[in-house]
Amino acid sequence: MDKKILRDGIKQQLAAMSRPVYEQKSFQIARRLYALPEWQESNKIAVTISADFEVDTWQIIRSAWLAGKKVCVPKCHPDTKAMYFYQLEKFEDLEKVYAGLYEPIPQNTTLIDAKEIELMIVPGLLFNRKGFRIGFGGGYYDRFLSSYIGQTISLAFSIQLRPDIPVEGHDIPVQKILTDSETILCL
Ligand SMILES: Nc1ncnc2c1ncn2[C@@H]1O[C@H](COP(=O)(O)OP(=O)(O)O)[C@@H](O)[C@H]1O
Ligand SMILES: [Mg+2]
Repeated sequence: MDKKILRDGIKQQLAAMSRPVYEQKSFQIARRLYALPEWQESNKIAVTISADFEVDTWQIIRSAWLAGKKVCVPKCHPDTKAMYFYQLEKFEDLEKVYAGLYEPIPQNTTLIDAKEIELMIVPGLLFNRKGFRIGFGGGYYDRFLSSYIGQTISLAFSIQLRPDIPVEGHDIPVQKILTDSETILCL
């Protein structure tokens, strides 16, 4: 099936989730993350700022800060399709960019060498159990992960799993997927 149709369909399904269900499932996913050695042993993690319909990462950032971890948040460059990570120390250093997404304000945050990031939380809309994903369509993470050597985990509601997503040669799978009901080892 066409990726755009799949993206639009899952966004609608996610947006239809009630607030209590969204909060509970996001909490279950976050709790699963905090139990992993990859989380506990990483001092520098990277994560995107979740949109309203995605698994909540705002709470994950708060927990990381409380645990003394450094939190790096990406800024995408649509012209070059490159992505750079900035260390975020407070939510007020975020700004809304295209499509209503939040990104770090480069002037207020510190550019981080991606080689230092130990754990990357990779966003996505749909996943298969091998860790392949349909992202938001920019291919940013496929490009980025091709030279990234740290650990990768994606967070997803169970409805974001499906076996039949199209996979292309440039797609790079994540190592683990955490859902509200299971931890999937992809490799
Ligand atoms: N490593 C790469 N080098 C060059 N182009 C890439 C690379 N990875 C992805 N792309 C391009 O980015 C675009 C979006 O990729 P796609 O996998 O469909 O998006 P997403 O992973 O965000 O769902 C495609 O046109 C793809 O060819
Ligand atoms: Mg892709």
